[in-house]
Amino acid sequence: MTSGIPVRAGGSPAADAPAVSVLDQQPAAERFLEDVLAGLGATPKALPPKYFYDARGCALFEAICELPEYYPTRVELALMRDCAADMAAQLSQGALLIEFGSGASVKTEVLLRTLHPAAYVPVDIAADALRASTARLAATFPALPITAICADYMQPLRMPELAHVRASHRVIYFPGSTIGNLTMAEAQDFLGRARSLAGAQGAMLVGVDLKKDPQVLHAAYNDAQGVTAEFNLNLLRRINRMLAADFDLDQFRHVAFYDAAAGRIEMHLESLRAQTVTVSGRTFAFAAGERMHTENSCKYSIEQFQRLAQAAGFRPAQVWVDADRQFAVHLLRV
Ligand code: AVI
Repeated sequence: MTSGIPVRAGGSPAADAPAVSVLDQQPAAERFLEDVLAGLGATPKALPPKYFYDARGCALFEAICELPEYYPTRVELALMRDCAADMAAQLSQGALLIEFGSGASVKTEVLLRTLHPAAYVPVDIAADALRASTARLAATFPALPITAICADYMQPLRMPELAHVRASHRVIYFPGSTIGNLTMAEAQDFLGRARSLAGAQGAMLVGVDLKKDPQVLHAAYNDAQGVTAEFNLNLLRRINRMLAADFDLDQFRHVAFYDAAAGRIEMHLESLRAQTVTVSGRTFAFAAGERMHTENSCKYSIEQFQRLAQAAGFRPAQVWVDADRQFAVHLLRV
């Protein structure tokens, strides 16, 4: 059910602070159990990456973004700082800006300064991160109406409130190469739904990690400090905590590699020995060396991504790329 949870900018109840609302459309807790049981019962075993982002998972992901090896966040942010004015010039002011996977909304702040949207709608599955970033942005942009939606944006969104927002057009922002965490088929479906949401005059800005030297990719997902390993293993910690499970975290290890044929990084958790694990009363056997697939991170050439966007009904209009050709931000028009 959708319910409005008022949040005050800065997290304090100051009377002069702008109120923003957070609509709660989080998937039911039972959905987590169903997804985990289905994933552990499949061959090969797999767990959906959307469940990485509990409070600890969000903090670990933010730590990943600061790592020397993990270039995407740094490069995309620099690209936004360099090109946001140009992007805004292509998009016109007064839009309803909808962001998927908004997380800490750091890049968004750069875009908001130049785009001057009529209203902003961040959508993210991580409730605490969404509340914190929404409160921060509301304090920074007090005149901007913000309606945050806590939801799994891979599912159809219920946004009746947006029908009343007066905006000349819609712009969908999907930064961070989060689109890479979808398979190509899922990405095409997702882009198709985004296109319908954007409407006839709409557009979409998508941050996409480019194909590059596999060694650079390997280092980005196998950092020396082991933060990515901890992020991956934290999924088991969350399952233990929320789903009455008994994964022994010392008996699984983080594995990440670049599959050149598929054009993607794959992350897995590998069982270090033959063992059984119980989740909410159901028992699953693991062979020594057996892996659970936890994430894909697809890397796209510019042309490949443009073809995908075209197949979803978008018209690729422009692309901004950093000088080292590491990361691209695509402008797609409906
Ligand atoms: C959120 N997503 C785009 C990150 C990525 O690079 O695929 C998640 C991540 N997984 C490991 N490191 C970062």
